[in-house]
Amino acid sequence: MIKIAVIGLGTMGRGIAQVAAMNGCEVLVYDSMDQMIEKSKIELEKNLQLLVDKSKIKPEQVQTILSKYHWCNQLKQIFQADLVIEAIREDLDIKKELFAQISQIVSDQCIIASNTSSISITSLASAVIRPERFIGIHFFNPAPIMPLVEIIPALQTSHNTLQQAVSIIKDLNKLPIVVKDTPGFIVNRIARPFYGEALRILEEGLADIATIDWAMTNIGGFKMGPFTLMDFIGHDVNYQVTETVFNAFYYDPRYKPSFTQKRLVEAGFLGRKSKKGFYDYGDGVIAPKPNMDETVGQQIFERILVMLINEAAEAVSLQIASKEDIEIAMNKAVNYPKGLLQWADEIGISVCVNKMDELYHHYREDRYRCCPLLRRMADTNQKFF
Ligand SMILES: NC(=O)c1ccc[n+]([C@@H]2O[C@H](COP(=O)([O-])OP(=O)(O)OC[C@H]3O[C@@H](n4cnc5c(N)ncnc54)[C@H](O)[C@@H]3O)[C@@H](O)[C@H]2O)c1
Repeated sequence: MIKIAVIGLGTMGRGIAQVAAMNGCEVLVYDSMDQMIEKSKIELEKNLQLLVDKSKIKPEQVQTILSKYHWCNQLKQIFQADLVIEAIREDLDIKKELFAQISQIVSDQCIIASNTSSISITSLASAVIRPERFIGIHFFNPAPIMPLVEIIPALQTSHNTLQQAVSIIKDLNKLPIVVKDTPGFIVNRIARPFYGEALRILEEGLADIATIDWAMTNIGGFKMGPFTLMDFIGHDVNYQVTETVFNAFYYDPRYKPSFTQKRLVEAGFLGRKSKKGFYDYGDGVIAPKPNMDETVGQQIFERILVMLINEAAEAVSLQIASKEDIEIAMNKAVNYPKGLLQWADEIGISVCVNKMDELYHHYREDRYRCCPLLRRMADTNQKFF
């Protein structure tokens, strides 16, 4: 089995390392903060014990998995890696500096990958000596559980590197989906309106957080409402992805971040992890009750859903990935109750177009422009599937 180096032992790095070790790879793990190594060791043992308790692995497998780990306290110790996956904080300059160092350490054959959610893979590839061996390998959180992995070739990536990356991810028992190097890739791009439109509805005072969450879960069938989900992801992470995607799209108003969420970040109200976000997670706090008005709920759900469909249609239209892969991605990574394109077919493409046009005429904002592909499909009576 190959040797995989994981750099950065935060939420993602720890999960990716566990996936690699559990699938028989040697893992070389490194973090610039010593305490993160200690924390990772403790957490790993706890996670493996949990898997034993749930009978997901046998007790005797624990030692085998632990023995796959090589804890490195210096970056140069990763020199034997066949694949390096970087999972440090989302900062272009810091990542580029790290990649320049990594590419001096590893062999010519080593694939260097970034787990970035929103930075251009092509720009990161420019920092290494052999950019043809560089690629985006984007896991979802929690990595040991989420099956989907987006594979993003940079402009410089060779076909051979792409094929190898896809095959390694399959060997790790994950589902690779190849996607164009565009802001947010598939999932973080198409999912933006789930948060953005919910925030907009809140800011306009059309409904409160509990009602919007109720509409999306009870009427829409989504597993979590947007505010619960943002609190779960963490506003620092969620806001930063929105801001990076917005900047990368040259300030397209469709991806405009929200001041409401920015203020939460500024206040340190990061969601569940800080016990306060949109909701208060303090002991004994009673959650706010939704206004369960079906008409209001239906309007909220339809507005957010049509914005999501419009975004998915735009991704098809710009060939970000195939329509089948877009459906799989949204289903596997964010657990949407249905593929958005299938949903569009069911509602009717012309109904979606009319809804987008209604929003556009009301707000007169480019944010609500209907995807030309949807309009063309409505005019010619076509469906996605
Ligand atoms: N958290 C998520 O839900 C999620 C999901 C998918 C992708 N990502 C992406 O994965 C990456 C990591 O995210 P995270 O949430 O795990 O971050 P995190 O903040 O939890 O962890 C980052 C880790 O990197 C370490 N680090 C920072 N600079 C370093 C350096 N120069 N060398 C070595 N280690 C360094 C830090 O000490 C920390 O332990 C980001 O690019 C993020 O966009 C995050």
